[in-house]
Amino acid sequence: MMTIAPTEKPLPCFFFSHGSTAMLARRSAPAAYWEQVGRQALEQGVERIVIMGAHWETLDDAIRVSANPDPQKQPVAWVHPKEYEDFVLNPDVKFASTVQSLLQEAGFDVSLDTKFEQVHDTFMILKWMFPGGKSLPHVVVSHNARCDPHYHLRIGAALRPLRHQKCLLIGSGGAVHNLYRNAWPQVVFFRDSFALTRPPEQWAIDFGEAFSNVVTQNTGPRLRKAMSRLMSHPQYRDAQGTDDHFMSALFIAGATGELEDSGNRNYAGAECWELLNMRNSQFQFGDWPQEPHVTPILQSMREASFDRSIM
Ligand SMILES: [Fe+2]
Repeated sequence: MMTIAPTEKPLPCFFFSHGSTAMLARRSAPAAYWEQVGRQALEQGVERIVIMGAHWETLDDAIRVSANPDPQKQPVAWVHPKEYEDFVLNPDVKFASTVQSLLQEAGFDVSLDTKFEQVHDTFMILKWMFPGGKSLPHVVVSHNARCDPHYHLRIGAALRPLRHQKCLLIGSGGAVHNLYRNAWPQVVFFRDSFALTRPPEQWAIDFGEAFSNVVTQNTGPRLRKAMSRLMSHPQYRDAQGTDDHFMSALFIAGATGELEDSGNRNYAGAECWELLNMRNSQFQFGDWPQEPHVTPILQSMREASFDRSIM
């Protein structure tokens, strides 16, 4: 197990809504925001990343931690392989044992997966964060297929000490992400997931606001309660066709919802809409230790999703 000298101030955590696979190739407001977070991570001395996605789940009562020194990237629909095949994933196999130990100490049935294959939900984020072509060393943690909110809060709580060890915790999922209620024609016929032929439906707007309010208006244990309570929201099933894209939000709420996190601030970052009803909202939980404490939303991010020049 690696030993790392703890830092006084914890690092912030992030929840990223990764959207459709088209977000891997097309520059969008969230992509520009991810790039900014990556730049800030390097400036603020982050040395490694632990990320939970939405597309790698474990059955029964267990979770897994990636420990493949050379994982394959699973193919990505709608995206040419040249957009990602040369990106160097840089998995941190040694640190995977540290992550496993923390989870075991918290009582989880957790194993290392040496045959892990990486999915776009995690390498899409890393690719945008590190435009130089190589990720910071990172470890992927699976979610659990039973999708118990409290179980995933506890995973985050177990890994919270890593925030003091130059490790950035990221959840990759979706704030409003229901493939059954998206509008598909614009991407099927025109390969344009950003085209909005009419306004998003009210339930998507409302749940997106509820999600944002939970993050920005709660801290400490209240944040954990509020995030888990969202699964009982009347519009939850409209906004989350399946539970898999919500689990990493609970993971991040767990990592940022201790008593000592009470009073910290959480922030809504950049966002875009795709496929009519998919709201790709980004969130920062807590401040960066050094200035700027909050990853800024730049004007260029607001404009990125409306750039038609690359069509
Ligand atoms: Fe996804």
